[in-house]
Amino acid sequence: MSDSAHARRSARRYHLHATSAVSAPRPRQASPDELAQDRLEVLLGPDDLRQGLERDALIGLSASPKWLPPKYFYDDRGSILFEQITRLPEYYQTRTEHAILTAHAADIAETSGAQVVLELGSGSSAKTRLLLDAFLATGRLSGYVPVDVSAGALRAAMTDLRRDYPGLALHGAVADFDRHLDELPAPGTRMVVFLGGTLGNHPPETRGEFLAALSAAMRPGETLLLGVDLVKDPDRLIAAYDDSAGVTAAFNRNVLAVLDRELGGDLDPSDFAHRAVWEPDREWIEMRLRAVRPVRARLEGLDLDLAFAEGEELRTEISAKFRREGITAELGAAGLTVEHWWTDDAEDFAVLLARR
Ligand code: SAH
Ligand code: AVI
Repeated sequence: MSDSAHARRSARRYHLHATSAVSAPRPRQASPDELAQDRLEVLLGPDDLRQGLERDALIGLSASPKWLPPKYFYDDRGSILFEQITRLPEYYQTRTEHAILTAHAADIAETSGAQVVLELGSGSSAKTRLLLDAFLATGRLSGYVPVDVSAGALRAAMTDLRRDYPGLALHGAVADFDRHLDELPAPGTRMVVFLGGTLGNHPPETRGEFLAALSAAMRPGETLLLGVDLVKDPDRLIAAYDDSAGVTAAFNRNVLAVLDRELGGDLDPSDFAHRAVWEPDREWIEMRLRAVRPVRARLEGLDLDLAFAEGEELRTEISAKFRREGITAELGAAGLTVEHWWTDDAEDFAVLLARR
């Protein structure tokens, strides 16, 4: 999209107020004026989300093997379960990315040159605080735009951010990053932030399209801060997706509760076992739900009868793991040039900065 189209769209949909430079966040009560600056744009309403689920469930549950896209994990319960996952001893990703951001946030803020942080799949925005603090210290930050498909997670994050960052303009968007990239706010030069390894939840077949769409929605000179999980010992990977406390299993089964609630289903989560499988050729983890007995169920809302043979599996997520050369080439093909690559000593996880 051209700069002027961006500007027109932003002017039409948003009234962004540049905030004065804030040197460091200070907990204090936000004034009514500050609160009035907040925007929550809903590009994806509950009906849109349910219609998407209807379409995807019809396609995925009629396919062989059966599959579902991962975005439906994140109802309120799923978002809470994901936050619990981030604190599990086996799930090294979040704390490693947190450590990388702690070490390099100031550098990132300086080199990106952005005025606005726009985050895709922002969830709780917990790690993003490191970036916001570093950007605020530069005196250039004029706003934060968290974008998430989960309205509950987004509202909760914005409430906490408003309390802790009273001077910062917040402009959240409930949106699907697979559909709404060119409708997201562009109130200044942005750094698009995509953390947690969430890019890896796109299958490689559609990842190129996603990156091309993202690049097309960015202005020349804008940056992408991307967190990617790296290929490593399969035992550690499997443990990260099959933790001993069973939180990931509950997260995985939660998608069945979403189907039941949204589509009038009668699937029983106890009919399904959680599985985490490393696919060495594709270099991704697959999460699956395996029927532990023959299952017959109905999704009334779709007028769809479902049958699972004993042992039949439903793929609920892939989580691709990356290598430096591969992701650099993929981004390059989308017109995004990797300028910086930061990793932990063990090279478990990487955060990179790419420029359009
Ligand atoms: N960025 C956070 C959260 C990662 S969990 C972190 O690094 O810890 C993945 C997040 O992406 C969830 O909050 C989920 O609701 C959101 N998400 C998943 N698919 C999405 C989509 N298609 N569009 C927008 N948000 C999505
Ligand atoms: C959000 N995403 C990067 C997580 C991952 O690791 O692929 C989702 C998740 N699935 C199971 N555990 C965490």
